[in-house]
Amino acid sequence: MSANRPAAVVVLAAGEGTRMKSATPKVLHSLCGRSLVGHVVAASRELDPEHLVVVVGHAREQVTAHLAEIDPGTRTAVQHEQNGTGHAVRMGLEELAGGSDAAPVEGTVVVVCGDTPLLTGETLRRLAGAHASDGNAVTVLTAQVPDSTGYGRIVRDPAGGAVTAIVEHKDATEAQRAITEINSGVFAFDGRLLSEALGKVRTDNSQGEEYLTDVLGILRESGHRVGAAVAADHREILGINNRVQLAEARRLLNERLLRDAMLSGVTVVDPASTWVDVTVTFEPDAVVHPGTQLHGATHLAARAEVGPGCTLTDTVVGEGARVINAVADGALIGPDASVGPYAYLRPGTKLGRKAKAGTYVEMKAADIGEGTKIPHLSYVGDATIGDYTNIGAASVFVNYDGEHKHHTTVGSHCKTGSDNMFVAPVTVGDGAYTAAGSVITKDVPPGALAVARGQQRNIEGWVARKRPGSAAAQAAAATRPESDGER
Ligand code: UD1
Ligand code: CA
Repeated sequence: MSANRPAAVVVLAAGEGTRMKSATPKVLHSLCGRSLVGHVVAASRELDPEHLVVVVGHAREQVTAHLAEIDPGTRTAVQHEQNGTGHAVRMGLEELAGGSDAAPVEGTVVVVCGDTPLLTGETLRRLAGAHASDGNAVTVLTAQVPDSTGYGRIVRDPAGGAVTAIVEHKDATEAQRAITEINSGVFAFDGRLLSEALGKVRTDNSQGEEYLTDVLGILRESGHRVGAAVAADHREILGINNRVQLAEARRLLNERLLRDAMLSGVTVVDPASTWVDVTVTFEPDAVVHPGTQLHGATHLAARAEVGPGCTLTDTVVGEGARVINAVADGALIGPDASVGPYAYLRPGTKLGRKAKAGTYVEMKAADIGEGTKIPHLSYVGDATIGDYTNIGAASVFVNYDGEHKHHTTVGSHCKTGSDNMFVAPVTVGDGAYTAAGSVITKDVPPGALAVARGQQRNIEGWVARKRPGSAAAQAAAATRPESDGER
C-alpha cells in the first residue's frame, strides 16, 4: 500500500460530449486500445485508492456496462442531470458515503475528469504526494499551455504567488483570459473539507452550473491551504472535447508508447505509420516496419520482425519470426517461423518453430508443427499438421459440410500434392504422399501414395475435326512435318 493512498478517486464521466457529434458517449471513444475513461481508470488505479467511483449520467447503462467489463472493482454514482462538475463530485461523494446525510468521506479524495486520457499514474502520484507533504486542503494539478482557450484559468496572488481562485473561460475577464496557467481538472482534496465546501458552491455563473473549481476560492476564503502542482508536460492534461483532439491525443499517446519501446531496444522504422495499443509488449531487438498496427495482447519476442503492412491483434510473434503484409488475430507464431506476404491467420492458429504460412494463405484453428510449410494459395481450417510436412500449392482443408465443422489431421514428413482437397474428417498418416489434384476423402495410411483423381484421356486430332481452320488447329498442324501427312 502506498503512503499517500487516497480514500477515493472520483472520475467525472456524466457529460454527453456534444462536441464529439456521436451516438457513442464521449468517454467510450477509444485510443490505443482503451476507452477515454478506461485510460483514466487505469491511471487512477496506480494510486491504489480504497474506492474508485465513476460518476455516470449520459448513456449511463452503456458506460456502466463498459466499466463492469474493464474494471469490475469500480463503483458508479448516477448524476441524473449534468448540473456541473461540482454537482457531479457531490453525487460521487454521496455514493461513497451512502447517502446525502451520511458522514463525509475521511481522507484524501482525488478528482479526475473522464476525458483526459493522457494523464499518467506518475503525475497523479506526484499530485497526491505534494498534497500530503504540503498539508493542503486542496491541491490542483495545473499546466502552462500554449493556448489556454476553453480552460479554467489559475488566478494567483500577485504578492506571494499562492492560488486564489480558478476562473472558467466563459466567466473570465480579458486580463484573466491572458493567463496561460490552466486547471487540468485534476485535484486532491481533503474529503471532509471538500464536502463542506461543495455545500456552499453557487450557480451564479455564465453556465448556471455548480463549478467544482469554485471550491478552491471557498476553501481559501475560510482560511485553508490551497496548493498547486504544475504538470511537467502540459500535453498530459489534454482534455478531449472533439474528434480533432481525439486524433491529437491518439498521436501523442502512440508516440509515447513507441518511444518507450524504442528506448527499451525495439527498432521502429517509421513511428509515424506504426500504431500500437497500450497492452502491446516487446522484447529487445524486435523490429517493426512501416504501416503496421499492433493491437491487444500482441507480443513481439526478441528479433521478431513484423511488417511492412501488418495488422496483428492478440498475436504472439516468436523469437526471430518474420511476418510480412499479414493480418493475424489470436495467432501464436513460433520462433523463426515465416508468415506472408499476404497471409491471414485467424484465431487458434499455431505455427511451430520454423513453420511457414506463405503467400495467400489463410488459416484458422490450425496447429502446424515444426518446420512444416504451407507456402502458397491455401486454406487450412480446423487442422493438425505434424512436423516437416509440405502442403502443396492451392490446397484446401474442406472443413465445413454446410452444417458442422470437421477436423483434418496430417502427419509428419508428408508431401501432399498441389491442388489437394482434404475433405474432413480425414487423416493422412506420417510420411504419406498425395498426388496433385487429389480430393482426399479417405484416410491415407502412413507411407502410402494417395491418388484420387480422374485418369487423363487424350483424344487425338479433336481440334482439327471440331475446330477446323481455327488458330488452334493451324498451330497444331504447324507442329507436324509437311511430308508426314495424316496419321
Ligand atoms: C473543466 C473545468 C476547467 C478545466 C477543464 C480541463 C469546471 C467547471 N471546469 O472544463 O476548469 O480547465 O475541465 O479539461 O470544472 N461532467 C460531469 N457532470 C457535469 C459536468 C461535467 O460528469 O455535470 C464531467 C464531463 O463528463 C467531463 C468532465 O466532467 O468528463 C469535465 O467536463 P467538461 O464539460 O468537459 O468541462 P470543461 O468545460 O472542459
Ligand atoms: Ca473537458
